[in-house]
Amino acid sequence: MEKSEIIEILRSGDVQSLSRQANLIRETACGRKVYFRGLIEFSNYCVRDCLYCGLRRSNRKLKRYRLTVEEIMACCRAIAESGIKTVVLQSGDDFGYQQAQLIDLINQIKTAYPDMAITLSLGERDREDYRLFREAGADRYLLKHETIQHSLYQEFHPGQSLRYRLRILFYLKELGYQVGTGIIVGLPSQTLEDLAEDLLFLQGFKPDMIGIGPFIPQKDTPLGRNPSPSLELVLKCLGLIRILTRDAHLPATTAVATLGGLEAQRKACEAGCNVIMINFTPPSHHQDYRVYDDKFRVDLRSAMEVVSAAGMIPSLERGDSLQLKEMDSAKGNI
Ligand code: 5AD
Repeated sequence: MEKSEIIEILRSGDVQSLSRQANLIRETACGRKVYFRGLIEFSNYCVRDCLYCGLRRSNRKLKRYRLTVEEIMACCRAIAESGIKTVVLQSGDDFGYQQAQLIDLINQIKTAYPDMAITLSLGERDREDYRLFREAGADRYLLKHETIQHSLYQEFHPGQSLRYRLRILFYLKELGYQVGTGIIVGLPSQTLEDLAEDLLFLQGFKPDMIGIGPFIPQKDTPLGRNPSPSLELVLKCLGLIRILTRDAHLPATTAVATLGGLEAQRKACEAGCNVIMINFTPPSHHQDYRVYDDKFRVDLRSAMEVVSAAGMIPSLERGDSLQLKEMDSAKGNI
């Protein structure tokens, strides 16, 4: 697809016919299953200062917390008991958790639950950390590039560099992680052309997983008075990325649910999504992981209803990258 065609669809395309097309491709390339991931938001400390994010270090209003390894293991147990086979360990860019402690945590999870896939979402760390975490058994890594537009990236991420972030993404691939990246839709002054460039970048990079969520204001940040985009625009981005990448794992994100509730999440599934994150953070900290305001908490039961309502099949399988399957069968053919 040409950039001009993508922009035209984003501007004036029909979201329903795009969703139908994307849904068909999802059916052929990924099947009917929607995979669940168990999310543990284990620390809201962050050294970065991203203008849109409530965890930014300048936000003094946020009560900071860091779960202990024991508390994290208790969350893992709840995930295992639910039948889910992926743990997503997510935090701000928090160096309070050191390399050795995280390696120990990964080891403990792999020992207690050998069949559990571990996804890390810890932001930017030293190269050596990524290598050792992978060696310890981490399977996947999520690191959104947020926006591929240099000037926007500079504006919203003081002290960070888009080029460096992209280098990390390539390195994660090299290390053999299943890699997830993605974008925020509707950042202030982001244009449809910017979004089209993001979608084309994602098509070229071929991530195993792609997180696409709307900007949602958090009132204690500099962007707290800016509006969210329309659900329609987000659904179009989801549909387009399904068509462009075919078999990437595509979550119906929590941000989508925050924008429009379970109905929006169902529409996201109908627009090509095939993954849902279930929140296993202890309820006492729900209020504190305030990336944006009124963050929706998705539980397994309502997520299963969403999936069935979308005509798809809830799955508790590991749901590894579909691109790996492709590679395996390609090897088989040699
Ligand atoms: N709106 C939407 N997504 C946000 N994130 C952070 N702040 C916001 C916001 N206001 C997302 C970013 C980041 C992750 C921590 O949360 O994509 O990768």
